[in-house]
Amino acid sequence: MRLTLRFLVPLVVILGLFAYAVVPVVDRLMVQWFVKDLDLRAKLIGNTVDDSLFEVIDNDRTKTKKKVQQFFDRMMQDERLFALGFCNVDGKLTYQTDKFPETVICPPMPATDESLEPLSDVVELPKGPVHVAYHMVQGSGRVLGDMILVHDMSFVLNRSEETKRTIMAFIAAVGAVIAFITVVIAQLSWRGWVQGMRGLLHKGPRGSSSAPPELQPVVRDLRNLLRDLETDRRLRDDIQTAWTPRTLKELLQKELAGDEVIVVSNREPYIHIKRDGKVTVKTPASGLVTALEPVMRACSGTWVAHGSGDADRDVVDSADHVDVPPGHPQYRLRRVWLTKEEEDGYYYGFANEGLWPLCHIAHVRPTFRSADWEQYKRVNEKFADAVVQEAKTEDPVILVQDYLLALVPRLLRERLPKASVITFWHIPWPNPEAFGICPWTEEILHGLLGSSIMGFHTRSHCNNFIDTLERFLECRIDREHWNVSYGGGITGVQRYPISIEYPGRLLRQAKPIAEARKIVRARYNLPPDRMLGVGVDRFDYTKGILEKFRAVERLLEMHPEWIGKFTLLQIAAPTRSKIEQYQRFREEAAVLANRINRRYGRNGYEPIILYTEHAEQQEVVDLYRAADLCFVGSLHDGMNLVAKEFVAARDDEQGVLVLSQFTGAARELPEALIVNPYYTDQCANALHAALSMPATEQRDRMRNMRGILHDFNVYRWAGRMLLDAARMRQRARVVHNVSRTLFSPLPKST
Ligand code: G6P
Repeated sequence: MRLTLRFLVPLVVILGLFAYAVVPVVDRLMVQWFVKDLDLRAKLIGNTVDDSLFEVIDNDRTKTKKKVQQFFDRMMQDERLFALGFCNVDGKLTYQTDKFPETVICPPMPATDESLEPLSDVVELPKGPVHVAYHMVQGSGRVLGDMILVHDMSFVLNRSEETKRTIMAFIAAVGAVIAFITVVIAQLSWRGWVQGMRGLLHKGPRGSSSAPPELQPVVRDLRNLLRDLETDRRLRDDIQTAWTPRTLKELLQKELAGDEVIVVSNREPYIHIKRDGKVTVKTPASGLVTALEPVMRACSGTWVAHGSGDADRDVVDSADHVDVPPGHPQYRLRRVWLTKEEEDGYYYGFANEGLWPLCHIAHVRPTFRSADWEQYKRVNEKFADAVVQEAKTEDPVILVQDYLLALVPRLLRERLPKASVITFWHIPWPNPEAFGICPWTEEILHGLLGSSIMGFHTRSHCNNFIDTLERFLECRIDREHWNVSYGGGITGVQRYPISIEYPGRLLRQAKPIAEARKIVRARYNLPPDRMLGVGVDRFDYTKGILEKFRAVERLLEMHPEWIGKFTLLQIAAPTRSKIEQYQRFREEAAVLANRINRRYGRNGYEPIILYTEHAEQQEVVDLYRAADLCFVGSLHDGMNLVAKEFVAARDDEQGVLVLSQFTGAARELPEALIVNPYYTDQCANALHAALSMPATEQRDRMRNMRGILHDFNVYRWAGRMLLDAARMRQRARVVHNVSRTLFSPLPKST
């Protein structure tokens, strides 16, 4: 339609202009032709009646007037003639018919030369133009005068109008024919092309294409291209929206009709603990919490999580609710209590000794115990029960978080069939061989496929998940639309790279850069000019902390000029300390840091500061702002939000990010110095490059990365998932309505 209009409008304009220019020219030519015709006609009539008129006027002078009148009356039977007159040689009008116009006068003197064309003129009368021709009347060598023939020209005007109309109609007809032919050809070729493309891209059974084998590679490329275009379109649509807490709120109201949002995760956003006999609040070191907390502030729903603080029970109401954030409540936290056995089996055991090492390639063997699995199942049911209790409607939007709650989606699907269950897997998903190590692979997949949407950080995690499903479960996989049909339900598998609040709330309260540099250096007994690298991680073996220390050692070996001038401050928040692997790792890290400090330390200088306490968020922001570089060395990480937090904290556009290639963040922040943490020399060189990087280059890199965070913040992450959930809900409603209409029993005739 648009194509057709795009063609038709210019065509109409061109033809209109053409008509406007051509019609007056044709009109003028027509009048000239008719005047010439009348000249000839007048001459012919004059020549025919010449002799007779001469006789009438010359022979019988007594009755001349009457006879001339009769003669003229006979001539006037020619309907084209309007009037006739006769002028004598003195130039006096002696005879004339009735309607002879007053404005027509005799010529100054009669024409004497026969060969001359009769004189003629077009005279405008009130009723229209007339053609006036003068014909010399002569005989026997004498000239009597001039006959004046006045022709009516109204027929010329009529014909001219008719001609104009004909020309216009002709142009319009030609235009219509051109337009019709062109549109038909365009439509046919477009349809043909589209059908051709469809045919080419159409997948037959088992994903085969109907295209001939020699075209298969082209088809594959085209299909990939179309998919990329679709992804691009989605991204463009998303980018056009500036994602803020407000956008998210509006989206909930508009697209999800204010439906209630429930988040369920193991880790809670606020932990109440007793310190020196007083209850204080701690925010945990968890990427999941960092990302979801601002989303919940915007959505004002309910967050269901494990109450893990020793003062958590003291602050909840009778339904285990506490409004958070403390001091400025914006949403409700529902705490779930776990027994020691449950926590040991579910959290420390199955989740963190089994699934965590299973999903991260960090060369730590997973341990699976049947007793842990039993606790894992029990606790997942506990969480699902709590969600069902919290749901006020039959179709809430439920955001299930992470590997700790893999069975919850199915449990919710069974109890709240109309709910939209969006599950986000915050850690990597390994290949099918690796995941298949888990003795309860099928049960976990069955549990996850209770979700409406399964989200991962990267496309490769989505691919691994789909491959695992294909290997272990009887389900139908639509790789084109990233859908899995299983047990009568459909699960969309999508990539939603997680992010942080940007611009961040904490940045508003942050210290100015110069002050932060001073305070942080003073706090860790560093001189004001010490170049500072920071690492902020949980004390987890996946974070590459040992590799970072080795890189610092190698830097000082390769570039001794940095000895005494550079320190890496590694914040390592204690985590999962009950697990033996973690205890061993902590010892190993401390031993390594000591060895390196002994090797290069002198006069109070230590290249590595290992700080094994939890740091509160505002403190961490100051650290980022005080640093010259931030080192993220994860051996395997779903996203890693520390990298993004560092960039967000640097509104001065200074500082360098050294980032492991094995994080999801490395795909989004290519301006970081991307390193392989296992390749110590490369990391050492990257540290040297970061420490020597000119301020202008730091600015360019930082500016680009901040631009990415601006466009891809956490509101957008949540927004995209909610939008997709809203679309799925709408589709489900349409399908439901249609099937109700089609299959409802006909009313009985009475
Ligand atoms: C990772 C996991 C989260 C978890 C966080 C902190 O980011 O994906 O689910 O909350 O680590 O671990 P923790 O065991 O302290 O909750």
